[in-house]
Amino acid sequence: MTNKSTIAQVGRHVGETVTIGAWVNNKRSSGKIQFLQLRDGSGYIQGVIVKSEVSEDIWNDAKSLTQESSLYVTGVVREEPRSQSGFELTVTGIEIIHLTENYPITPKEHGVDFLMDHRHLWLRSAKQRAVLIVRAEIIRAVQEFFNSNGFTKVDPPILTPSSAEGTTELFHIKYFDEDAYLTQSGQLYMEAAAMALGKVYSFGPTFRAEKSKTRRHLIEFWMIEPEMAFVDHEESLRIQEQFVSHIVQSVLKNCAKELETIGRDVSKLEQIQGEFPRITYDEAIAFLQGEGFDIPWGEDFGAPHETAIADKYNKPVFITHWPAHIKAFYMKPDPTRPEVVLCADMIAPEGYGEIIGGSQRIDDPALMEERFNEHNLAREAYQWYMDLRTYGSVPHSGFGLGLERTVAWICGLDHVRETIPFPRMLYRLYP
Ligand code: 4AD
Ligand code: MG
Repeated sequence: MTNKSTIAQVGRHVGETVTIGAWVNNKRSSGKIQFLQLRDGSGYIQGVIVKSEVSEDIWNDAKSLTQESSLYVTGVVREEPRSQSGFELTVTGIEIIHLTENYPITPKEHGVDFLMDHRHLWLRSAKQRAVLIVRAEIIRAVQEFFNSNGFTKVDPPILTPSSAEGTTELFHIKYFDEDAYLTQSGQLYMEAAAMALGKVYSFGPTFRAEKSKTRRHLIEFWMIEPEMAFVDHEESLRIQEQFVSHIVQSVLKNCAKELETIGRDVSKLEQIQGEFPRITYDEAIAFLQGEGFDIPWGEDFGAPHETAIADKYNKPVFITHWPAHIKAFYMKPDPTRPEVVLCADMIAPEGYGEIIGGSQRIDDPALMEERFNEHNLAREAYQWYMDLRTYGSVPHSGFGLGLERTVAWICGLDHVRETIPFPRMLYRLYP
């Protein structure tokens, strides 16, 4: 019996014979020696087969292997400083599991539509694998940050009777005889949870039936939404800085190999720590107008506006104090200037756009009633939300981090379609 190992763990078996379940990533031969580039999900290793040292059967089995064929390969682990993994396998046995014919994704270039149609196979490529590992590390760092700062994870519902972020982007479904919607944001429920548990966060899928076909929009995306009782806008911004810095520094520390595979310039990420710059919406408008943008006060920003502002800084920038009428109904007005609200969007550097939206929430019951009317919201559906203001209302704040945009920024990907295993986009539901 030989040792079973994964590629990631071969370092524990130098000089020993191990068996690894693997796929053939690539192959080359120099007549008397065959080189198998093997992958098993945990890593990559080269298997070397020397004709004079193996039986004819093993030699011929190795010859028959094609890209993405699967096998159990047995061999002796050797240190090999010149290889990426640091190890090599001198092959002594091969058990073919499945011979693959005509694997559609070859080492040549493929168009994006072709790759998206084969997303289930594209995931096996080195870069896509690295992105998913970074995504998992971001999720781990998010949970670490909140779990070690006194937050409790709470799961809001996916099926909801009302909207959180405006009624135009809702996915409508039938809930037996009632109308229901897929959640756009767990925030309103997280406010209820914060009144029960103090500091809470959620992590889950959210849905926007947005007819936007941009590099930043998904129909289904994952959001991290903390909500904090007795925390004002100012304190929330501080927490956001620490939170985002923790994520970036964790990825730098734990995913150096993956960032290299992706080709990310890490010097840009190393600067993400400490305080982040802030500008008000008013200052942003003045700056944009000075740059020649034709944008009046009161209008929302598009991607070009965000990028022009972000380009002034080498860290994420907060744009604060937005006009109330272009933001969600629940945001608390600035007491000194009620036409703007206590909110901020965090814009990532290098043109990756808004990664966080957050605000202090309205805690005054009378003002909340006014907002329901102004926004024509079906009052009955929000009675429970009103109760949070009726019974022991407190100042509270929260924010939402879009996971996929964060992955795109940290990995330096120009489209969010590569940040999630199976992206749901306008006109794409397959595979
Ligand atoms: O700014 P948004 O809409 O804020 C909210 O939903 C708040 N209720 C969050 C809160 O305060 N609890 O969305 C938050 C973030 C955005 O900054 C962006 O990163 C991401 O979610 N996001 C999207 N990501 C991908 N595709 C989309 N269509 C997105 N829409 C928003
Ligand atoms: Mg937003």
